Formats: sequence, structure tokens, C-alpha cells
Amino acid sequence: VPEKLVDRHGRAITYLRISVTDRCDLRCRYCMAEQMTFLPRAALLDLEEIALIAERFIARGVTKIRLTGGEPLVRRDMLELVARLGRSLGHGLDELTLTTNGTRLAQHAEALFDAGVRRLNVSMDSRDAATFRHITRHGDIEQVLGGIRAAAEAGLAVKINMVALNGLNDQEIAPMLAWCIDQGHDLTLIETMPLGQIDEDRADRFLPLTRVFDDLRARFDLKFDNRSTGGPARYWRVASTATRLGLISPLTGNFCASCNRVRLSTDGKLHMCLGHDDSVDLRAAIRSGGLAEVDARISEALDLKPAAHDFRIERGAAPAVARHMSVTGG
Ligand code: GTP
Ligand code: 5AD
Ligand code: SF4
Repeated sequence: VPEKLVDRHGRAITYLRISVTDRCDLRCRYCMAEQMTFLPRAALLDLEEIALIAERFIARGVTKIRLTGGEPLVRRDMLELVARLGRSLGHGLDELTLTTNGTRLAQHAEALFDAGVRRLNVSMDSRDAATFRHITRHGDIEQVLGGIRAAAEAGLAVKINMVALNGLNDQEIAPMLAWCIDQGHDLTLIETMPLGQIDEDRADRFLPLTRVFDDLRARFDLKFDNRSTGGPARYWRVASTATRLGLISPLTGNFCASCNRVRLSTDGKLHMCLGHDDSVDLRAAIRSGGLAEVDARISEALDLKPAAHDFRIERGAAPAVARHMSVTGG
């Protein structure tokens, strides 16, 4: 029986996030520079390698897999991967899901449902066409809204992810929650995190969710809800609605003590923490020694998982971590 995954701090690893591509059809200002350099295609794990590595994690106790990016749906063989991983549902895997920007969701919603996906997180930082275009630099809000509708019609539950951005979408947060209530979606607000060089100073856009929450609480009847999705958000139920409000506050409320996650990057590195550079190279492992080597590297990596990240947002400071979230998969 393969060894279960428990780190030095006693935390069981049950959630694997996989970045299937660092590429994206958008260029959200808090995420990427306008001129991004992407990994050469040869650096990427191929589909079979991703699936084999993911299956090792499932064998060792991972019950939840999230495919991210970049934008996962821009990878051409993405649906094949989803279908392959879907076969592990009910055989160790409880949940297979995605975080997507929604631009290509309309084309893929039904196939995702057929592969066993039941819930999706869709990034949408504004519902105003001009603001959405400004934040994403290229995005068309109608495309994303169409994707969300198609997902709902296909039977997928949708949670909206909204990064809170000072001076850009702060006035839209309460209306976004009202819209989510109306549409029957959940909403998660996220504090901007210092990963990778972008074209602006993150300090100018940082909006502490402590402040946002006080404002929302004055407008909506929010009741703490201790049901977790297995991710970092803490949830509040909006009374007498189906909607939950999630808060992801890495800067103002650290959640690392209950961390259950690791990340497989596009180029096959296993990152034990979003906020640290330590990693082991599973691409080299699978190509040189096969799955036995992968298993050995994963065991070693457990000792690298730090107790917590130490993100700070300070004016003029370089990002805490040089790599972009799109490579690591958030
Ligand atoms: P659920 O399954 O719905 O709980 O999703 P999730 O929040 O785990 O995933 P999602 O991809 O929607 O991530 C939302 C935000 O949380 C992204 O900005 C992620 O980078 C961030 N996030 C996820 N895990 C961690 C973590 O361990 N540390 C930090 N600092 N941020 C995280
Ligand atoms: N800080 C916080 N959230 C980010 N995302 C991307 N980059 C950052 C960042 N630097 C969000 C996206 C998406 C999720 C995977 O992470 O908006 O919803
Ligand atoms: Fe693309 Fe998501 Fe980054 Fe926006 S936040 S550029 S949609 S990867």
C-alpha cells in the first residue's frame, strides 16, 4: 500500500492543483504583464505524464483535483485529460474540477459534465464590459457570461471568483453578490497576491477583504457557514438564498494551518506552497525513473512543505515569488 501524504506539520495532502498550461487568452493586469513569455512547448508535461502523476497522488490519498492554468481550456488536448481523470471518480477521487476564465466554456460545458465535472470556478472580476476589458486587457464579458450560462444549462454549479481590486472593481462587489444571488451562483472574493512581475504596483490595487466584508455585512444578512469546499476560502451563507460568499484572504487572514494542497506546475514541478520556491522536479523523475521515481520524489517533497507563506504587499517591493500564478496553477 503506497504511503499516504502527510507533511512535517501533520497536514494531510488531499487536494492536487494542476496547471495544464501557463498560456492564456487574457492578460489580467494583476496576473500577467502585457508581454508575457510563456514556457516552450517542449517543457510541458504531456497528457499521459500528467495523468500518470495525478493517479499516483490519488493512490496516495488525494481526493480532489483541480485543473487550472493559465487558462486550462486553451490547451488542445484538455478534454481528453478531463475524461481520463474522470475515470478515477469513485475510485479514490471524489471531485474533479476546473478554474477557468470562461471564454471557451460555452464549447466545452457539456463535455466537462459528461466527464464527471460537477462544479466550476469561473474568474470574473467585473460584469461591466469596459471594466472587464480594462482588467483583462482582451476580454469580452459577453463571451464569459455566455460560458457561465452554458455551464449552468449543462448542470454544472458555478462559483464566481473575483479578485478585489482597489479603484477598479470595489464598487462592483456588492452588485456582484446581488447578481450571484439572483443567478444562484456562489461568489468568492480574493485578495491580490504578490506572484510574478506585472506592469503595475500591486500595492496600488490591494484591497483588504476585512474592509470589504464589513461593508457587505452591512448590506446582506451573512451567516458563518463552516462547510468547506476543501479550498482556502471561509464561507458565509447569504440568509434565505442558495448563495454562499467565500473569502480568500492570504494577506489579512492566514489559512495555512489547515493547508491540504500541493501544486503541479505546467513544466512538471511539484510546488508544496504557493508562496515559496521549493519544489521537486517530477518531469525529470517520470522521464528518467518512471513512477517509482515519481513516488520517491513526492515523499521527499513532503518535508519541504513550509508551515506558512509570508506574502506581503508593500509599495515598491518586488513580488514575494518570481514565478507567475499561471505557471504554478494558483
Ligand atoms: P474551491 O474548491 O472552490 O474551494 O476552489 P479553490 O479556492 O481551492 O480554487 P480556485 O482555483 O478558485 O482558487 C481561488 C484562489 O485561491 C486563487 O487565487 C488561488 O491562487 C488561491 N489559492 C488556492 N489555494 C491557495 C493557497 O494554498 N494559498 C494561497 N495563498 N492561495 C491559494
Ligand atoms: N492574486 C490573486 N488571485 C489571482 N488570480 C490570478 N493571479 C492572482 C494573483 N496574483 C486568480 C484568478 C483566478 C484564480 C485561479 O486566481 O483570478 O480566479
Ligand atoms: Fe488568464 Fe486567469 Fe491570469 Fe486572467 S487571471 S490572465 S484569465 S490566467
